[in-house]
Amino acid sequence: MLELRQITKEYQSGSEVVRALKGVDLAFRRSEFVSILGPSGCGKTTMLNIMGGLDQYTDGDLVIDGISTKQYRDADWDAYRNDTIGFVFQSYNLISHQTVLANVELALTLSGVSSSERRQRAAKALEQVGLGDQINKKPAQMSGGQVQRVAIARALINDPDIILADEPTGALDSETSIQVMSILKDISQRKLVIMVTHNPELAEQYSTRIVRLSDGNVLSDSDPYIPGTEPELLTEADILPAQAAASAVGSVSATSTVASVQSAVSVSAAETAISATAGAYAGSAESFSAVDAAAASLRAGCFRRSSGRIDCCRGERQRQAGEAPP
Ligand SMILES: Nc1ncnc2c1ncn2[C@@H]1O[C@H](COP(=O)(O)OP(=O)(O)OP(=O)(O)O)[C@@H](O)[C@H]1O
Ligand SMILES: [Mg+2]
Repeated sequence: MLELRQITKEYQSGSEVVRALKGVDLAFRRSEFVSILGPSGCGKTTMLNIMGGLDQYTDGDLVIDGISTKQYRDADWDAYRNDTIGFVFQSYNLISHQTVLANVELALTLSGVSSSERRQRAAKALEQVGLGDQINKKPAQMSGGQVQRVAIARALINDPDIILADEPTGALDSETSIQVMSILKDISQRKLVIMVTHNPELAEQYSTRIVRLSDGNVLSDSDPYIPGTEPELLTEADILPAQAAASAVGSVSATSTVASVQSAVSVSAAETAISATAGAYAGSAESFSAVDAAAASLRAGCFRRSSGRIDCCRGERQRQAGEAPP
């Protein structure tokens, strides 16, 4: 879903040119917990800022959901930052005289959201990070770990696909760091989490993938991803429209929820979600043949469920739905 292709970044510093990134190639899965490690000044923050659309690359391409950003205009970058990215900064950037709830609410950028819904969503995000009972405190009345969790709640409120965190445990003691890491790990079950850290032990223990940078280059990658070569995890974004399509053709009850699908114990619920997704991919709610095709691909065994989640082979699904060349 996010891909850096030969990304370079040069800063002009007086008369000198600083080459902060020297041609980084990296692709990320829809849901994984990636730690970025490397010495001070090697380009970690620069890379995070470029991935989050906070800074522009000098050369190369940032590909988002298969689409190049070379032609992106300001409005495209704004939409990307608002809808897709949640940023957790090390310096929390909270407003000290506002309550925690107000701080989180303020980050909700969607227009047309009523103040009561804003409040509700902020409270929910705070609950997600274990601060449901602290919402009326001011940041100064909280511990460092709690403040960092507020910063994570703020990053979550728009329900972004990608969480970028720059040294989220940098200012925390080891016990509090563990709380924050557990929360990020939990989030990474459903989202892409990319975290910069100076702590290799925490990275080893919590993340699913470690990328080491050195002097503007990728030095190593413990679990590289080549787009299109792996089964992709279905996200809510896939399942919801899929269910809508499926209920339109009557192949799943309209009351089915994402939660019931994601925690599906029965194969039939998984099948329903996947065939429904194929229907949505075929672009037609009436397309029974796509649903049949998906069922065939299911029979061919191209789906697997692991730890209560549903993985599905998108390439195969698209082929069956007649979208991709064999
Ligand atoms: N705005 C800027 N202007 C000029 N040079 C910059 C700028 N921002 C970063 N740099 C330089 O780019 C290089 C990479 O910086 P970056 O902040 O990405 O490093 P980092 O890996 O995050 O380091 P740290 O671990 O200390 O946070 C450094 O040499 C830095 O001095
Ligand atoms: Mg940095």
